[in-house]
Amino acid sequence: MKRRVAILISGRGSNMAALIKAAAASHDFPAEIAVVISNRADAAGLEKAKAAGVPTAVVESKPFGKDRAGFEAALQATLDECRIELICLAGFMRLFTASFVQRWYGRMLNIHPSLLPSFPGLDPHGQALSAGVKISGATVHFVIPETDAGPILMQGAVSVSDHDSADTLSERILEVEHRIYPDALRLLASGQARLEGDICKTVASAASGNFLISPVVGE
Ligand code: GRF
Repeated sequence: MKRRVAILISGRGSNMAALIKAAAASHDFPAEIAVVISNRADAAGLEKAKAAGVPTAVVESKPFGKDRAGFEAALQATLDECRIELICLAGFMRLFTASFVQRWYGRMLNIHPSLLPSFPGLDPHGQALSAGVKISGATVHFVIPETDAGPILMQGAVSVSDHDSADTLSERILEVEHRIYPDALRLLASGQARLEGDICKTVASAASGNFLISPVVGE
C-alpha cells in the first residue's frame, strides 16, 4: 500500500511539482500525493497541483493571526479527512507549535537550501555567500520544534563560485532539491529510513568514492 502524503506549500511549489512528478512517474513509488495544502489561497503551486490532477486544499493561516494552535487544528482536520500518513513541507512559510511537531515526529519532512546545520533560517544562500563557503547544497530533514534542524535524511551538494549571486546559487541548489526530495520521500515511505535518537539511518547509506572539490585547480 502506498503511503498517503500531504505536501504543504505557501508559494511557487517547484519542490511540490518534483514530488508529484516522481510519485506519478513510477508504479513502484511507495507514496502517493493525496493532497496539496496551502496556507495561502494565492500560492502559485496550487494551480500546478490542480493541473497535475492532485487534490488541493486551502487552510488560510492569516485569519488565525498568532493563534498557531487554532490554525493547526484546522490543518489537522484536513489531514485527517485525507487520511494522511506523511507530510512534506515544501516552501511552507509557517512555524508549528511543539505539540503539532511532536504529533508528526518521524513522519514530517522539510527541505532547506543549505547543508544543515550550516545556514538555517532566512536567506541561506546569502548566508553561504557571506561565509565564503566553496560548497553548499540542500538538506531533507525530519521536522523538530527548532527551525531548520532535525535528523538529516538526505543531502546534496553543489560548488559555489566567486561569481555566484544569491540568485544563481539558489537556481543551482534548487536542481539538487528537486532531485533529493523525491529520493528522500522514497526512503521514508518504503521504510528504509529509521530514527536512532537524533540520527537518521538509511539502508541506502554507503560511502561512495565521489568527490566534490571546489574550486578546481587546473594542472
Ligand atoms: C525551496 O528553496 C526550499 O528549500 C525552501 O523554500 C523553497 C521553496 O521553493 N524551504 P518551492 O516553492 O519548492 O519552489
